[in-house]
Amino acid sequence: MQQLIAGNWKMHGLTGQLPLIEAICRASARSPADILICPPFTLIARAAEIAAGRIAIGGQDCAITETGPCTGDVSAEMLKDAGATAVILGHSERRHHHGETNAVVFAKAQAAAEQGLSTIICIGETQGQRIAGAALTVCAEQIAGSVPSQSHSSRLVIGYEPLWAIGSGVVPSADEIVEVHRHIRACLIAHIGAEALNVRILYGGSVNPSNAASILRLPEVGGALVGGASLAVTEFASVIQAVPCQQNRS
Ligand code: 13P
Repeated sequence: MQQLIAGNWKMHGLTGQLPLIEAICRASARSPADILICPPFTLIARAAEIAAGRIAIGGQDCAITETGPCTGDVSAEMLKDAGATAVILGHSERRHHHGETNAVVFAKAQAAAEQGLSTIICIGETQGQRIAGAALTVCAEQIAGSVPSQSHSSRLVIGYEPLWAIGSGVVPSADEIVEVHRHIRACLIAHIGAEALNVRILYGGSVNPSNAASILRLPEVGGALVGGASLAVTEFASVIQAVPCQQNRS
């Protein structure tokens, strides 16, 4: 399975940062991985124009409904119209700051799938849940509640992002990552069947040039979801270069 390196720019990026898209396209030209950048809504159309298919451009959220009186919302169809081919859904910052429940994420995933967008559905436990030994249960519940059961593997990606690792500089141990990724695979198989065998499960949370190589070599890790390090071309290029050739995977 080809790995996916996805950059989530979150609420960063003005038109002045658009040259970064061209730089990332060049840096990823010979990469064995698929590359996706999810800039803020305001930059999607221009980023897609610059990328011109060399890398994928995605959104960071979409609305449940297709059209209507939903001030401030952006639909999956609008994302597609702007040139996006993918969307991040259920990021912990949306689950926690905007009260998005599993049911909301599920409905958004259905709306995105109807438009043919690839969806990266994010899951992950809080620090308290990990300490309480509930990490695997939380991930199982989020998969069961957020992932539409008819999902097709080519359009579904899971982002495992433990909240305590996001922006903290702390990453789980290799054993912890593998344990959760294996559990996610098993939950997905129970939920969507054999399709789950081809779903990429990304690790996200403080991925940077110094830890990317060791994380990307782990079994069941299908790529990385990168926040801060996707905002500087040298850092993001180093993460891309850390993608192992297939024969070097453990
Ligand atoms: P950081 O890489 O900045 O920790 O962010 C991870 C993330 O939330 C990506 O979606």
